[in-house]
Amino acid sequence: MLRFTMEPRRDEVRARVRKAIAERGPLAETLSEVSKALQTLPHHTGVYLYLLRGDALELGAHAGRDTEHVRIPVGTGICGLSARTGQTVVVDDVKSDPRYLACNLETRSEIVVPIRRGSVYLAQIDVDSDHPAAFGADDRAFLEEVAALIEPAFP
Ligand code: SME
Repeated sequence: MLRFTMEPRRDEVRARVRKAIAERGPLAETLSEVSKALQTLPHHTGVYLYLLRGDALELGAHAGRDTEHVRIPVGTGICGLSARTGQTVVVDDVKSDPRYLACNLETRSEIVVPIRRGSVYLAQIDVDSDHPAAFGADDRAFLEEVAALIEPAFP
């Protein structure tokens, strides 16, 4: 049922993302629009787009609460774990995960999805939620789809 009710919202986000990519503007502007579009989805409290530069992730754009984590070494936190393993990471309860790097007290769950070109890890979509276990298989599949859509925007 949730899948059914969510599809129109996901269609809107998909359309915004496709438009932003088609406009071929500066990367920072494209990523800012993508993060704003994704934040309109339910429970997507904060959306952070990190770019992999050398051995660290750098914040490229975000929508939602500011974060002090503008640079995260690969291997540190949930973001760094995704960059180290090349995999999507879902944490249903950040308070019980010692790897979690806290930005605020309200966040309860998190998902980090890689943006890859072939086997090269370019960047990642990090979404925080104030709700526990907010990210299910459908959310993961959708964010992985968006990651593939925005890959061409990277140099
Ligand atoms: N929680 C992340 C740090 C980034 S903020 O959520 C924006 C982590 O554990 O890597």
